Amino acid sequence: MPDPQSFHMPPDEFRRWGHAVVDWIAEYQQRVEALPVLSPVQPGQVRAALPPHPPPRGEPFDAILADVERLILPGITHWQSPNFFAFFPANTSGPSILGEMLSAGLGVQGMLWATSPACTELETHVLDWLADMLGLPAGFRSSGPGGGVIQDTASSAALCALLAARERATRFRSNEYGCDGTLVAYASTQTHSSVEKAVKIAGLGRRNLRLIEVDDRFALRPDALERQIHQDRQAGLTPCFVCATVGTTSSNALDPLPEIGQVCRAQRLWLHVDAAMAGPAALCPEFRHIHRGLEFADSYACNPHKWMFTNFDCDCF
Ligand SMILES: Cc1ncc(COP(=O)(O)O)c(C=O)c1O
Repeated sequence: MPDPQSFHMPPDEFRRWGHAVVDWIAEYQQRVEALPVLSPVQPGQVRAALPPHPPPRGEPFDAILADVERLILPGITHWQSPNFFAFFPANTSGPSILGEMLSAGLGVQGMLWATSPACTELETHVLDWLADMLGLPAGFRSSGPGGGVIQDTASSAALCALLAARERATRFRSNEYGCDGTLVAYASTQTHSSVEKAVKIAGLGRRNLRLIEVDDRFALRPDALERQIHQDRQAGLTPCFVCATVGTTSSNALDPLPEIGQVCRAQRLWLHVDAAMAGPAALCPEFRHIHRGLEFADSYACNPHKWMFTNFDCDCF
């Protein structure tokens, strides 16, 4: 019997419901193909089915599982269905779900090495593996000036990269005093909206984001980039950041990294490569060419949560 004084689920009960949850997920995996990919609910329908106030007492876990089946499942768009072809791939997998359980079970905080050495060292080590597996230049490994960290999303990675670019361009002046409205960032018309969001959060202002035209394969045109940078310098502005994309969201276009990289190097601009979508393709040696020119990049991000059977969220930066 659970101790009525305890607010914790006793280990035996946890074991029982843990098994039930795993069974429920396994059964979901078996039936997901038969469910409608797009949720049929109307806006507000899920909320209307929920009680207006939180329950005063915790409910039995079987009631919660029944609610998941009755109230939540009809409101799910089934990204894991083999019939799902919308937005972008976001594949989970058995090992990834079980890994998430272990991680939640340990409840570790990884903000410092001392807060859990295994967390930091495993993260660093696996990101070195990934750098090797994707054929990234040696500078992206932790043995050099680089080394990867896990971010929640590619959007966060783009923001981190832009902040680093902003500080490098201003020698930490903007970090102390704020942006003065002269810093300029560059991406293509096909770049993911997270870069525009980052530009706004980092204080550069939407006005100072240049969306460079693309060619007939939707790839950023390096000549147009160079021309725009010159114009901005002539106008007294300070170009600081370029985002090139390996696999744009809408068409999987590949921006030409070697040419863009040469412009960035000549102009001393930070080059961030957003490979959120297509980067994992380079796990296959025959697709390594998508990373040609990465030696010019200051930062790189790809999303195992899109194409590497890893739960959302996991971005490697
Ligand atoms: C090219 C590209 N960049 C960035 C993102 C944003 O990814 P996240 O959801 O990890 O922020 C996406 C998502 O589809 C993407 O395709």
